[in-house]
Amino acid sequence: MANYVFIAASIDGYIARGDGSIDWLTGHEDPTGGEYGYGDFIESIDAIVMGRRTYETVANLDPWPYPRPVFVLSSTLAPGDVRRPGVRVVSMELPALVAMLKREGYANLYVDGGATIQGFLRHGLIDELIITRVPVLLGGGVPLFGPLERDVPLSHVDTIVYPDGLVKSRYRVGR
Ligand SMILES: NC(=O)c1ccc[n+]([C@@H]2O[C@H](COP(=O)([O-])OP(=O)(O)OC[C@H]3O[C@@H](n4cnc5c(N)ncnc54)[C@H](OP(=O)(O)O)[C@@H]3O)[C@@H](O)[C@H]2O)c1
Repeated sequence: MANYVFIAASIDGYIARGDGSIDWLTGHEDPTGGEYGYGDFIESIDAIVMGRRTYETVANLDPWPYPRPVFVLSSTLAPGDVRRPGVRVVSMELPALVAMLKREGYANLYVDGGATIQGFLRHGLIDELIITRVPVLLGGGVPLFGPLERDVPLSHVDTIVYPDGLVKSRYRVGR
C-alpha cells in the first residue's frame, strides 16, 4: 500500500508554464520506446487522485488516458459537474480521503497536480516520488513543490538517464 507521485518537472522545478502549457514536455518522446516508464507505472497503481486544475487540462482528452478510477479533488466542482465514467469529484481532508480510498480497496494511489502533491506531502501522505527532470529552465510557472512546515527527508532509490537527456529519479520518503 503506497501513495506515489509520478511527474515531470523542469530543472528549475516547474510542472507547467504559468499559462498551464506543457509544450516543453510533450515535445519529448522516449527514445527507448517505453514512455519513460509511465505505462508500467500506471499498471501498478489502483486509482488516481488529481487536483481540479490538472483534471481540467485532461478533461477533454479522447481517448481517455487513465485505465484506473480517477478521483478529482475540488471544493468548487459539484459531483454532477463531471460525467465521465470512472471519474468522481471528492472534497475532503486528505487523511480522510486516503483512509476512505484504502478502505474501498485502492491500495496504490497516484497523486497528481502540483498543489495536490504539496498538500499530500504536508500531511505525510506520499511514500514515493518519481520525478523525471526535463533539461530546460522555464524561469517560472506552476511549481512542483512549495512551503513545508518541516523538512521531508528522502532516500534515493534509483535514477535512469534517458538518451535524450531526461533523468528519472525515484525517492522514498523517509530515511
Ligand atoms: N509536468 C507534469 O507531469 C504535470 C502533471 C500534472 C499536472 N501538470 C500541470 O500542472 C498544472 C496543475 O497543477 P496545480 O498545482 O495548478 O493544481 P492541481 O493540484 O492540479 O489542482 C489544484 C486544485 O485541486 C483542488 N484541491 C487540491 N487539494 C484539495 C483538497 N484537499 N480539497 C479540495 N480540493 C482540493 C482545488 O480545486 P478547487 O479550486 O476546485 O477547490 C485546487 O485549486 C496544470 O497546468 C497541469 O497541466 C503537469
